[in-house]
Amino acid sequence: MKLLVTGGAGYVGSVCAAHLLEAGHEVVVLDDLSTGHRDAVPSDATFVEAELGAGAGEVLAAGGFDGVLHFAARSLVGESVTEPEKYWSGNVLASFRLLEAIREHAVPRLVFSSTAATYGEPDRVPIPESAPTLPTNPYGASKLAIDHMITSYATAHGVAATSLRYFNVAGAHVAGDVHLGERHAVETHLIPLVLQVAAGTRESISIFGDDWPTPDGTCVRDYIHVDDLADAHLLALQHATAGRHDVYNLGSGHGFSVLEVVEACRAVTGHPIPAVLTPRRAGDPAVLVAASDRAAEQLGWKPSRTELQRIVADAWEFARGR
Ligand code: UFG
Repeated sequence: MKLLVTGGAGYVGSVCAAHLLEAGHEVVVLDDLSTGHRDAVPSDATFVEAELGAGAGEVLAAGGFDGVLHFAARSLVGESVTEPEKYWSGNVLASFRLLEAIREHAVPRLVFSSTAATYGEPDRVPIPESAPTLPTNPYGASKLAIDHMITSYATAHGVAATSLRYFNVAGAHVAGDVHLGERHAVETHLIPLVLQVAAGTRESISIFGDDWPTPDGTCVRDYIHVDDLADAHLLALQHATAGRHDVYNLGSGHGFSVLEVVEACRAVTGHPIPAVLTPRRAGDPAVLVAASDRAAEQLGWKPSRTELQRIVADAWEFARGR
């Protein structure tokens, strides 16, 4: 298939672009490099440096596209609270313009990067797709708004659409010389931060609270390997049905605590990784774990890289190579 990958210079987008190329697809990456990296774009992809809202129409006007995989987004929860305008403009408005370009140029398929943040504070775990969507920050609200737009475009205009709701994406794509992983100017995610301590660029890791209602008192998250996530995107492309918008949670169904993550990083790196207890981070739910049965049943998706040490080892391999 000929595919447009928006945000293909970012973490998840670049890994998915690499998987799509390995599977024999033709890939055009559109990215404005505001947070992505030019050298993360796989060399076999065509690269267009442009902002999403304006650029998507120009690229799709060339014709012949079988689908769009839409990763480009702002994704910092804290920033979305202090500067929500960036999320309504960069996520919602830009995605609306992408959808209009998809309609205008009759692109049949769309796979969208949605998020567990659309559910907000869950009333039960594991979280199924039928759980209430009550986001607790503008980031999650902007992704949910896009999900709603996509549903309406699937219904009215026949797009075969899929939203994949990621839980905590982690690990790296390590294949021969190709190393693609998490590289944010502002890093907020646990595993890369812990590995910065092991690499000697950070003194210690903060543990955001140890008084949560969890077995060891620290927050529990469902860490999903980025290569497993990429597999789901390829399956979503194959299974998409015209006029339908399907939503799938992507997680392993297993939760690991912050302390377990730090321990796994110590085991993988051999570094003592000093940890400092700090107050809870505002807005963190205690436990987020996915029920991914729907993806298993309907897409035939089964994550295979679910061991925490494997996820951390790949992230460490990537971090060491930087
Ligand atoms: N944490 C620490 N110390 C740190 C960083 C994180 O203790 O220095 C803890 C957090 O409190 C949380 C866990 O590690 O309990 C994971 O935190 P991350 O920031 O890595 O990930 P989140 O669970 O906050 O965020 C993820 C996605 C977001 C998405 C959110 C949905 O990365 O994009 O889930 O709630 F919005």
